[in-house]
Amino acid sequence: MFNKKKKFSTFPTHIALIMDGNRRWARGRGLNKMLGHKQGAFTLKKFIETLTQYPEIRYASFFAFSTENWKREQSEIDYIFDLCYEFVNEYKADFENKNMKFVSMGDVTKFPQKLQELLIKTMEETKNNTGLTVNLAMNYGGRDDIVHAANIVAKSGQEITIENLKENLYSAPAPDIDLLIRTSGEMRVSNFMLFQMAYSEIYFTKTHWPDFDKGELDKALFEFSKRNRRFGGK
Ligand code: FPP
Repeated sequence: MFNKKKKFSTFPTHIALIMDGNRRWARGRGLNKMLGHKQGAFTLKKFIETLTQYPEIRYASFFAFSTENWKREQSEIDYIFDLCYEFVNEYKADFENKNMKFVSMGDVTKFPQKLQELLIKTMEETKNNTGLTVNLAMNYGGRDDIVHAANIVAKSGQEITIENLKENLYSAPAPDIDLLIRTSGEMRVSNFMLFQMAYSEIYFTKTHWPDFDKGELDKALFEFSKRNRRFGGK
């Protein structure tokens, strides 16, 4: 067990998670893959609660459904949408009680109407909260985010600059990602928040997402606090 005060000399302001390995977690236990996603959603809830114990972490971005995940079987897609609905619906009160802000990143217009409405309503209702911001990426792709931002800037008649793009990313006004964590052993960024991770520290772990708990987070934070970040300087 790490002693937070003693071991962490610095904290990320913005962390991002590629929550990978739900199906492998289920397969390893002889369970249906859907149960892997269900456990993944449960882990996400617990994880957000854990994050609220680290006030230094102001923004957390989670990859829940990519623009490429539409290639999966319809039944799995529907299941993930149902989980997302349950997650946001159950968690709405907590977002309010804990002063958390909810942001849905990505194009929601392809989702079932009920889910779209819930995501938009929750964003609206929590937009003035000042605690942890939870960015949930659904139908999200990093390239798509950049193109979406560029179109907004172009339509406004402004010049396309890094600052103008930044202000129009789905995650705005969150700053760049300090720490990206990917679970389950794959070492790639899979079209997640490409613009925002220009200088992210990256932490890979073999642990499958459903097993990612506070102890695992502390290991990642400990590793982060040892990194020497130079941002291209000396
Ligand atoms: C990656 O594991 C996980 C996903 C593509 C879905 C993420 C979904 C959740 C964490 C639960 C749903 C929660 C919400 C709020 C929508 P994988 O399916 O690629 O597993 P594998 O790498 O073992 O095949």
